[in-house]
Amino acid sequence: MPVAILKKRRLIPGQTSELTLDASHIARKARPGNFVILRVSEKGERIPLTIADTDPQAGTITIVYLVVGKSTAELETLEEGDSILDVCGPLGKPTHIESCGTVVCVGGGTGIAAMHHIAKGHKAAGNRVITVIGSRCEDLLLFKEELSMFADEVVVTTNDGSCGMQGFVTDGLRMVLDREPSVGEVVAIGPVPMMEAVANLTRPYNVKTTVSLNSIMIDGIGMCGACRVVVGGEVKFACVDGPEFDGHQVDFARMRQRLSAFKPQEELSWAEFRRLRGQEA
Ligand SMILES: Cc1cc2nc3c(=O)[nH]c(=O)nc-3n(C[C@H](O)[C@H](O)[C@H](O)COP(=O)(O)OP(=O)(O)OC[C@H]3O[C@@H](n4cnc5c(N)ncnc54)[C@H](O)[C@@H]3O)c2cc1C
Ligand code: FES
Repeated sequence: MPVAILKKRRLIPGQTSELTLDASHIARKARPGNFVILRVSEKGERIPLTIADTDPQAGTITIVYLVVGKSTAELETLEEGDSILDVCGPLGKPTHIESCGTVVCVGGGTGIAAMHHIAKGHKAAGNRVITVIGSRCEDLLLFKEELSMFADEVVVTTNDGSCGMQGFVTDGLRMVLDREPSVGEVVAIGPVPMMEAVANLTRPYNVKTTVSLNSIMIDGIGMCGACRVVVGGEVKFACVDGPEFDGHQVDFARMRQRLSAFKPQEELSWAEFRRLRGQEA
């Protein structure tokens, strides 16, 4: 069933956009941590995207995506009033949210938007929520205002020091962990190297650490095996067993290897897409 785009916000022009979709059937059921899989066209790839927010009353969900290849570039061609061919969800296990005092939610790049829904869920459960967000520079920082509306504290890091602390999200997280003896959980969403660095940092602090694995997915319902990851020495399917897992148990080396398995094909397909649209390859 086609899903209408009610609103499009270009958060970082040409790179990152936010879409508000008319999807009451998903908005009613979606919980923090869930994702959707959508297709832009009949022959299009299936694109998994985290639900960044929901409004069950209005019947809408929000997604935020970074243009990295052919399918996300195709999605970026759609505007307000257009429709997405199909949107399947909510998928994946929702975030396990319990009352645990202070939770630190860490987001890097587009992962900040994905983390937003989870941080909101922890706040609604009565936890004290500290968010640590980071990007290369201030212009690439997402959702600072949105998080400030409910988080108890927003720690900002930028690589060039143009906003907040100069450094990486791990520098901001280390500062928080050194200052706060009673952190119950750290949740990290972002690029794989970032989530791995967060898991390595929290290990000596002995703090429960949850990461959200963005493995390559096809069906999203546990049938194809494309999304398999190794966690605690066992094979898991990120789409149905996750996407959230214990960061201290994830085999990140295997994850990186699988994510780059189709790199030559992905590059070829994007170059062809740009050639057909008259853009430089
Ligand atoms: C559960 C889940 C939730 C996700 N949530 C979001 C989100 O909220 N916002 C967002 O921007 N992206 C999200 N992703 C990643 C997004 O699905 C991919 O970036 C997208 O499918 C890439 O398609 P493409 O054809 O544009 O690029 P491709 O040509 O497929 O890939 C281009 C580059 O992106 C990398 N890549 C490909 N697929 C993935 C993937 N699944 N995850 C990470 N890197 C990938 C490739 O290694 C390659 O370097 C999520 C992925 C999963 C599995
Ligand atoms: S995407 Fe097919 S099993 Fe997970």
